[in-house]
Amino acid sequence: MKNKKILSKFDLTGKTAILTGASRGLGKAMALGLAQAGANIVITDVLDTKKTVKEIESLGVKAMGLKVDVTRKGDIDKMVKKTLQKFKKIDILVNNAGVYFPTPVKDVKEKDWDKIIGINLKGTMMCAQAVGKEMCKEKSGSIINIASVAGIMAFAQSAAYNTSKAAIIMLTKTLATEWASCGIRVNAICPGIFATDMTKGLLKDKGFQTMVKTKIPMARYAVPEELAGAALYLASDASSYTTGHALVVDGGWTVGL
Ligand SMILES: NC(=O)c1ccc[n+]([C@@H]2O[C@H](COP(=O)([O-])OP(=O)(O)OC[C@H]3O[C@@H](n4cnc5c(N)ncnc54)[C@H](O)[C@@H]3O)[C@@H](O)[C@H]2O)c1
Repeated sequence: MKNKKILSKFDLTGKTAILTGASRGLGKAMALGLAQAGANIVITDVLDTKKTVKEIESLGVKAMGLKVDVTRKGDIDKMVKKTLQKFKKIDILVNNAGVYFPTPVKDVKEKDWDKIIGINLKGTMMCAQAVGKEMCKEKSGSIINIASVAGIMAFAQSAAYNTSKAAIIMLTKTLATEWASCGIRVNAICPGIFATDMTKGLLKDKGFQTMVKTKIPMARYAVPEELAGAALYLASDASSYTTGHALVVDGGWTVGL
């Protein structure tokens, strides 16, 4: 008979997870994955969250949707307050909200640089700070920051995005070092190419399709559901001795020749 004790380490029953930018795409896929493992979910986004919240509730867990812009301190404070009011504590935070728009460096406008760095990096820092303070009181928690392979490899015409994602990896290591004594683990995920609204333009491009086939050892891009397992591992006790790590999920892209 199989011993299923190891599976219980992945169980999130009774835990509460907040995900930013999660009404669609990778955030939504990770939220559904954590909900399937039993977590109650807070979906936050600048977009409407109702449809995603309904889908999550249909899995038999509790869910709440909140309009939160991760660049606004007032929104972040509201996110923490409302989550604590409804669920009493926060066990998991997934800093997923992010934007990408390609521009050659010589044409980058100050406002575009500030927007990408502001949402991707400062938003991640401000949400981690606000939620981390609460997790510290409980002496436990898992924070997952969504970086990118663009934080490891340099992509042309993506200076602000690459820089924001590389900085998220370093922020992750710094928070892991600072908060281990608080019982908080902080890890990053570096996705490769996933089919979402963010990449739909790129995925139609013939040159990009050839690149996927020739440069990625698995010769394909991924669907959002393929990120859920990595998020579940880092969110749960299955990764109880893992902190400060950047987990690459890229079909072998960054290790290929
Ligand atoms: N799709 C990929 O191939 C890929 C690869 C590597 C990393 N990522 C990262 O994954 C994350 C999710 O991206 P996605 O592919 O699902 O794209 P997406 O555009 O579908 O999702 C991004 C979400 O962030 C939200 N958002 C944007 N600005 C916000 C703000 N100020 N406050 C709160 N929410 C905001 C958007 O409304 C959207 O729901 C991003 O951080 C992205 O950089 C994606």
